[in-house]
Amino acid sequence: MTLTKKSPCKVNLILNILGKRVDGFHELETVMHPVNLFDELTFERGGTGIQLTCSEPGLPVDGKNLVYRAAEAFLKFHKLEAGVRIHLEKKIPMAAGLGGGSGNAATTLLGMNEVFGSPLTTPALGSLAAALGSDINFFLQEKPALAKGRGEHIESLEFFPALRGTYIFLVHPGFGISTPWAYQQLANFPAALNGTPGRAQTLVDLLQREPLEVAAREFYNSLEAPALQKYPLLTLFQEFFRENGAAVALMSGSGSTTFGITPNRATAIQLREKFLVKFGESFWTAIVPLGES
Ligand code: C5P
Repeated sequence: MTLTKKSPCKVNLILNILGKRVDGFHELETVMHPVNLFDELTFERGGTGIQLTCSEPGLPVDGKNLVYRAAEAFLKFHKLEAGVRIHLEKKIPMAAGLGGGSGNAATTLLGMNEVFGSPLTTPALGSLAAALGSDINFFLQEKPALAKGRGEHIESLEFFPALRGTYIFLVHPGFGISTPWAYQQLANFPAALNGTPGRAQTLVDLLQREPLEVAAREFYNSLEAPALQKYPLLTLFQEFFRENGAAVALMSGSGSTTFGITPNRATAIQLREKFLVKFGESFWTAIVPLGES
């Protein structure tokens, strides 16, 4: 049996870092929102060990790939000797702050569980996800979520009334930003490193009760402090988004993808047209409805 699964991505509507922990990770609070752009993973039982192939020649297909590590963790946990063939069809930009790799790892855990007859419970999948990386638990569920800890403690939320009918315009500038680099740089930005707790919950409250224009003031990303200093182009993108109809403009995760949220599809399409005239046509862009699908 071959199983094909879509692997989604996310944006952070707020990423508020609260300080550095003794284990080297950073304590944070974030609101993550699913974005309907997908990689695709195919699973087939058979052969020996884990045989991973990928559409992207630059990506490793061994233990350096999160898909491989997730499949390995699944087989180890379940004490399975069985073999599996996995193919990853990459469409989401990488090192982009969109959680593509984390989504791939979560989809691998879910896909492996499906092709091996669902031996793992949801809590067991959750602990495997947390051991593999900070963002992976989010992708085990399909809703917006408030995440805490290093990102692995997830509280699922309903889709936000303020985002009903809105569209997100995403731009990847053609260079990636390394997540460890962005976090390490926070040492030079004490205000961004030591955010005020509670802001993520405030944003959730606003998105549930107020229009987007009011909630817009609480969108924030601590990792912009190092990223925008090193890459001023990203600030220009954000200013342009705001001047051309976006209620919100922000970098997602550790970057480099920058997004604008518009009140409707027509504004997003106009924004993209103007963006391409102003900045050229070489960037990866996407327009996606953000409300519940
Ligand atoms: O957990 P994940 O592999 O996604 O994290 C990648 C890197 O990002 C970590 O090795 C760490 O340098 C940094 N990080 C952090 N604090 C977090 C999440 C990630 O310092 N909460």
